Amino acid sequence: MVPHCFRPCKRNWIEKFFLAVVTFSFFWYIGLNDVWSQLVKSDQGQRGVLQRLQNKFSLSDLLSDQTNVPAIRLIGHPRQHNVFLTIGIPTVCREHHRYLHTTLTSIINNTALTDQERIHIVVAVSYLNETCALEVKDTIKELFNTHVDSGLVELIGIPVEAYPQIRNLRRTFNDEEYRVQWRSKQNIDYSFLMNINAYRGKYYIQLEDDVTTVQGYLQEIEKYIEETIEYWAILEFSSLGFIGKLFRSSELQKMASLLRNFYSEQPCDFLMVHFMHLMVQKGRFVKIPTLFQHHGLHSSLPNLLRNVSDKFYSMGEKTLNGDNPTANINSSLRTYGAYHPMNAYDNNEKSFFLGTDAKRW
Ligand SMILES: *[C@@H]1O[C@H](CO)[C@@H](O)[C@H](O)[C@H]1NC(C)=O
Ligand SMILES: *[C@@H]1O[C@H](CO)[C@@H](O)[C@H](O)[C@H]1NC(C)=O
Ligand SMILES: *[C@@H]1O[C@H](CO)[C@@H](O)[C@H](O)[C@H]1NC(C)=O
Ligand SMILES: *[C@@H]1O[C@H](CO)[C@@H](O)[C@H](O)[C@H]1NC(C)=O
Repeated sequence: MVPHCFRPCKRNWIEKFFLAVVTFSFFWYIGLNDVWSQLVKSDQGQRGVLQRLQNKFSLSDLLSDQTNVPAIRLIGHPRQHNVFLTIGIPTVCREHHRYLHTTLTSIINNTALTDQERIHIVVAVSYLNETCALEVKDTIKELFNTHVDSGLVELIGIPVEAYPQIRNLRRTFNDEEYRVQWRSKQNIDYSFLMNINAYRGKYYIQLEDDVTTVQGYLQEIEKYIEETIEYWAILEFSSLGFIGKLFRSSELQKMASLLRNFYSEQPCDFLMVHFMHLMVQKGRFVKIPTLFQHHGLHSSLPNLLRNVSDKFYSMGEKTLNGDNPTANINSSLRTYGAYHPMNAYDNNEKSFFLGTDAKRW
């Protein structure tokens, strides 16, 4: 390449000649000479040059960046007005069980009619298995047609071109190959769904396709956003994996890039924690009681039972049995937030003790 010269430098004529030859060959090589003659002849101007250069370098190949691949519009459409909350739900076809309709019913049932205008539900399904994509399309058409018409529900397909290599990847965390493949695909699915929804509404929350929610979840979310004074990049409305994580839509593209750039190295929930650090969020903000409960027993990973449920979901009221005498209450567990040990003892019906750092011996 042509050496850079930041200070005036003295060269003898041999150097100058050599430089000229190198420079000329370089531009000849990238074909700028004929771009230039075209530029002189045609009036296409700047755009023409860029186009030609791009063709020569084949920039899109070099970067192998499929982030600009458009979504396949399966059902519904983006909302015309800016909504308060977009709810993203990536879905897959498990071998025997389908939970998506329960999830959608639960969200819709628990959204007051007057609030339905303020949310938008975007379901995403991968075209790596087209049969599955069309099956989801049929289900939504059959069961949620009125909500599609009202603009509440939209279904998009993630085109095959959106996926980078998902086979023969480096095996990090000592995960089996099929697991690396599964979580890499998951990262791309999430990244795609987030990119689609960047800037669409004010906030974006991501769920899984096997969760249910509670009456008034929307008001609870609004309240928690208002209450959280400290800077946050992610608010959590479930204590599990990647369920119920809320982002500002304007910051969604950053998370999407992270998921995409490290899609094969780390699982999504690890990347989410990195995101909080990168955004300089101090600590985690988990709304308790949580608002979304996990139901699916069958993981989207074939033959895996994933029987996990959120312990902090919709917890019942504390049972109060008589007056406790005055006492000092302390715990060797570290207190989480304002959930002090005293809360487990006093007569405040709503509060409780939450400790962290418990170790199993
Ligand atoms: C939703 O509401 C309908 C009618 O009120 C009810 O039959 C159904 O069980 C509810 N579904 C869920 C998942 O809450
Ligand atoms: C694709 O999805 C269909 C429908 O759910 C399913 O029957 C089939 O096994 C899937 N194919 C693969 C290769 O996973
Ligand atoms: C799942 O876990 C719950 C509670 O932890 C338990 O009651 C239930 O039997 C489990 N189901 C299966 C199929 O393992
Ligand atoms: C509880 O114990 C810790 C450590 O022993 C102490 O720092 C703290 O002040 C105690 N809190 C109360 C409420 O007594």
